[in-house]
Amino acid sequence: MKDIFKKQSVDNYLKVDARLTKSLTAKDLLALGIGAIIGTGIFILPGHEAALHAGPAVAIAFLISGIVAGVVGMAYAEFAAAMPVAGSAYSYGSVIYGEGIGWILGWALILEYFLSVSAQSVGFASYFNNNILGAFGIHLPKFLSAGPLEGGGINLSAVLIVLIIAFVIAHGTSLSKKVENVAVVIKVTIIVLFILVGALYIKTKNYVPFYPQEFRTSPFGLGGLSTSAATVFFAFIGFDALASNSAETINPKKDVAKGILGTVFIAIILYVAFSLVLTGIVNYKQLNVDDPAAYALKVIHLNTWNKLITIGALVGIFTALVTLFFGGSRLVYALGRDGLLPSKMGEVDMKYAVPKNAIIVATVVQAFFAGLVPLTELTSLINAGTLLAFTFISFGIIPLRHRKDIPNKDGYKMPLYPVLPVLAGLASLYFLIMLPKLSKITVVIWLIIGVIVYLTYGLKHSKLQKK
Ligand code: ALA
Repeated sequence: MKDIFKKQSVDNYLKVDARLTKSLTAKDLLALGIGAIIGTGIFILPGHEAALHAGPAVAIAFLISGIVAGVVGMAYAEFAAAMPVAGSAYSYGSVIYGEGIGWILGWALILEYFLSVSAQSVGFASYFNNNILGAFGIHLPKFLSAGPLEGGGINLSAVLIVLIIAFVIAHGTSLSKKVENVAVVIKVTIIVLFILVGALYIKTKNYVPFYPQEFRTSPFGLGGLSTSAATVFFAFIGFDALASNSAETINPKKDVAKGILGTVFIAIILYVAFSLVLTGIVNYKQLNVDDPAAYALKVIHLNTWNKLITIGALVGIFTALVTLFFGGSRLVYALGRDGLLPSKMGEVDMKYAVPKNAIIVATVVQAFFAGLVPLTELTSLINAGTLLAFTFISFGIIPLRHRKDIPNKDGYKMPLYPVLPVLAGLASLYFLIMLPKLSKITVVIWLIIGVIVYLTYGLKHSKLQKK
């Protein structure tokens, strides 16, 4: 028991991470954040959720979800200010709660990152198949465009995009800051254009009823809205990855907070406006399609705009894909480096200076899920893993403030302590409970596997335990 709760020292992490170059500013973090956060979520979820759980009130679901993400984001920002180290929740967990919990959070993050890549690929494939291949008159048979759970065989385009990104990353290429910035500008401009042009075609009758009766299930008639808010949480995932960059930030004490909160704020505005426009153009009942934004523009015969939104979706999802793939493979690498996973995972390829084995494992798992599992199931699973980490990090602010060895005198601090950290933790828990049963069961199974791996392997090989 004592070993499981053995804590990592911050100084150790700070020393290891000192070799990373400090070059990021608040503006870079904002671009990185928007690059990672805005992807499949905005281009697909508003349509799905409006049709399945909330009607036009999906905009409110985005707002609620965004506020929770923002408050949890404050907790991440405080951790990043107090401990500017790589590894995000995994490192914070190991320092605050001890290695066992740190491992569980790292294990949950692997689920978040890996399946996020699969989900992005499925989103990419939807827009690509319907609007690029479709424009050339190519229509893939269902056997090659959907997984078995949707009556098909394999989502081929989704698998191929995972393999392409893996190839790029395995050759040591990460998106340069410049490319990332250009992609972010293209993506945001196209989304803003969709909002502005689409707003001219809103029919107010599509907003009535705003929160349809069929979704007013328990508790208190808020069932549909809560499930929707919990599901669209996926669209905000990625801001937590910014905390991972704190070791490479020039002034992590304040700038990580600016990056995280700025990212979430911009995302809330874009998502809420996007949802309102989408459900205003087309009745929510028609929106359960693979590519809702492009579909809505087709319905109102804006065919050129339809192509533009397709480009926005593909560019946007591509940048999110690269960032998340990068993050996931680095996490597996860190766990291998610390001895919690086989040391082969922590090996770095000499030629391209990348963790090749970690990338191979990531590719196989991500391609498998991208090819076989539908987007809705993927998003709820990702949310479950992420919300678990968010719960620990939010409540973790309380023990963090009690740690004399981790001073954070002039760094960012979450306001309204201890009320806000507790509220953030409770909100994360509530969302976790509101997710579909199947995702909760799957996540519990994932965690049990994690515990078994830790007890039978990690605990014995961990470098921390050997000290
Ligand atoms: N936040 C990311 C997205 O919406 C995962 O695609």
